[in-house]
Amino acid sequence: MNFQLTDEQEMLRKMVRDFALKEVEPTAAERDEEERFDRGIFDKMAELGLTGIPWPEEYGGIGADYVSYVIAVEELSRVCASTGVTLSAHLSLASWPIFTYGNEEQKKNFLYRLATGEALGAYALSEPGSGSDAAAMKTTAVKDGDDYILNGSKVWITNGGVADIYLVFALTDPDSKHKGISAFIVEKGTDGFSFGKKEKKLGIRSSPTTELIFENCRIPKENLLGAEGEGFKIAMTTLDGGRNGIAAQALGIAQGALDKSAEYAKEREQFGKPIAANQGISFKLADMATDVEAARLLTYQAAWLESEGKPYGKASAMSKLFAGDAAMRITVEAVQVYGGYGYTKDYPVERYMRDAKITQIYEGTNEIQRLVIGRMITK
Ligand code: CAA
Ligand code: FAD
Repeated sequence: MNFQLTDEQEMLRKMVRDFALKEVEPTAAERDEEERFDRGIFDKMAELGLTGIPWPEEYGGIGADYVSYVIAVEELSRVCASTGVTLSAHLSLASWPIFTYGNEEQKKNFLYRLATGEALGAYALSEPGSGSDAAAMKTTAVKDGDDYILNGSKVWITNGGVADIYLVFALTDPDSKHKGISAFIVEKGTDGFSFGKKEKKLGIRSSPTTELIFENCRIPKENLLGAEGEGFKIAMTTLDGGRNGIAAQALGIAQGALDKSAEYAKEREQFGKPIAANQGISFKLADMATDVEAARLLTYQAAWLESEGKPYGKASAMSKLFAGDAAMRITVEAVQVYGGYGYTKDYPVERYMRDAKITQIYEGTNEIQRLVIGRMITK
């Protein structure tokens, strides 16, 4: 067993950490306050090759592994969880399914543009009446000659409105339930495709979350991903890996909150000594650090399994479940370590606490992760 990162993985971590500190952290609080997405940050990630980390060079990627991918999301989320999820949704939710199920033409066109960062990606599964019960979707895609006509709406879409390429799930055969779902690649600007409500959120406020509306939206049959009826399998296998991206986001938030708390506990003095000198505070920091390490081991392990071509669905659900819950525990404690100051926007830990909450909700709530893990160990 080898817990050592490779030189390439260490180099990537250093590169992303430098980038995150210089280009992402300085505006994180302001973007959060203004609910402002910054495309310039995504463009700079593209220049560094981060928008195509795991894909081969022929498709515009840099040919690294999934451990490198989670390290990148972790380092970004350590300073700004919104930037972390922008990359995670782009890579594991929009690009991965095209890499895995796309034909050569789809990879040369859509995947290449996503990998090089010319295009930003999004994944559209959830609907107003279909969240945890993803198969209960209502959006339809009716075949009409060489096209499909999409009608319906998707909600909560990360990168919605700002993304260029959307992976959209719709019913091609409504009577067949989940076996009647298909996956489509839809480009921004297609007639009949528009954007609805942009959500006002508790956290990850500089990551846009937007409704997508399809009204007689005509999609060429070349944009069908995989076969008709294969959509639910595509959606589920995509989430198998995507969930580990959210684990990495949660891990980054947790590590960031721990770093800030340890720093503050050494500096802040009460009763004539640093608050860290109290066991009540140092035990909190010890529990936080232990949670962070456990989350990291689960997250890196799931990524390693995926890189090795071994089954990783259960590991990924576990990493998301543990890291999400740990990030929530840790960020609540971080605010406590800061006392009253932690409750204000003068310090970043309140943002970390607001951001952590989403990691227990999206890409399958943590109740759904328990359901997935439970089914896997009892089937
Ligand atoms: N891999 C391959 N196939 C899978 C699978 C997987 N991981 N999970 C299920 N399937 C297959 C099953 O084998 C079954 O196939 P057959 O009919 O051929 O036997 C079929 O799918 C149906 O499976 P289930 O009966 O288990 O399906 P279900 O309706 O009970 O739902 C569920 C399962 C796991 C709860 C699923 O609905 C689910 O994952 N829900 C949560 C939705 C979710 O995570 N949404 C995230 C949206 S993206 C997001 O949030 C973005 C973001 O964060 C940025
Ligand atoms: P519901 O499914 O209504 O669940 C409500 C509560 O009931 C939850 O606590 C849930 O855990 C619990 N529950 C439901 N069923 C069960 C069960 N069987 N057993 C136990 N408990 C259960 N979706 C996308 O497709 N693409 C995106 O890019 C995307 N980004 C998102 C970004 C944000 C900020 C948010 C908030 C959501 C995003 N989502 C996205 C949607 C997200 O995946 C859903 O919100 C999530 O899957 C839960 O669905 P729901 O909100 O409808 O809750």
